Amino acid sequence: MNKEQPIGIFDSGLGGLSVYKELKRLLPQEKFVDFGDTARVPYGNKSSEVIRRYAFEIAYFLAQKRIKLLVVACNTASSIALNELENAFRFPVVGVVQSAAMEVGKLEKISRIGIIGTSRTIKSATYQNLIKSRLSHVEILAKPCPLFVPIIEEGLFESRVLDETMDFYLNDMRKRKIEVLILGCTHYPLIEKKIMDYFNEKVKLINPGFSAALRVKTILGENNLLNDTEGYDEFFLSDEQENFQKIARDFLGFDIPEVCIIKENLI
Ligand code: DGL
Repeated sequence: MNKEQPIGIFDSGLGGLSVYKELKRLLPQEKFVDFGDTARVPYGNKSSEVIRRYAFEIAYFLAQKRIKLLVVACNTASSIALNELENAFRFPVVGVVQSAAMEVGKLEKISRIGIIGTSRTIKSATYQNLIKSRLSHVEILAKPCPLFVPIIEEGLFESRVLDETMDFYLNDMRKRKIEVLILGCTHYPLIEKKIMDYFNEKVKLINPGFSAALRVKTILGENNLLNDTEGYDEFFLSDEQENFQKIARDFLGFDIPEVCIIKENLI
């Protein structure tokens, strides 16, 4: 393994951009290879077996790009397949769920935590178990919020449908005065500001992409694998996504390089 090798990132769709953004901000000198499985999104309502198979196919695809570390940017895939991926590859594998749970575990004096994510992420209880193992006293309110994903994929950031969906999903947590809310799905940081407004700024939001970026920096540093020269990034999607370039520009604040669409089998 050497410093110049890229970092692989994958997500079920365009949500991986939220994790890429945090990684790029913290590690601007690294080279990233990002894969968005737009042909098969959403993962959140699929079975564990299918999610595991998709995760392995993409991990093998990225392994062929000679990555030095893999970030499982998808919360659903991190909840289901992280341990198996860690055991299967020689490079370190960082999951957003595990990174966020580690960060939350360090918070002091909190008594009520909210977790939102896909149905599969919440059903897997991976977040809940990891947090309980660190903070046994906290009350956890976990809620699947699957409708946020298509609304965000459609780019409906300023819409009544988003406002009403937010009220439908989050009203209970607001009433119960949660102190911390984990944005347990790659797409949610794209509506972070709206969520913050909904809670009248009275909640601490945890962005698992940021937690993962911190973890990646630590692991690369410990292994003397931090890159020190400018890199260029590569983007792959498994099918065309009409809004991808525009959402990427609006969200990241810069243009991403041309995206390569891989329509054939990954392995
Ligand atoms: N990327 C997924 C996650 O973070 C959300 C979208 C999906 O359901 O695939 O859980």
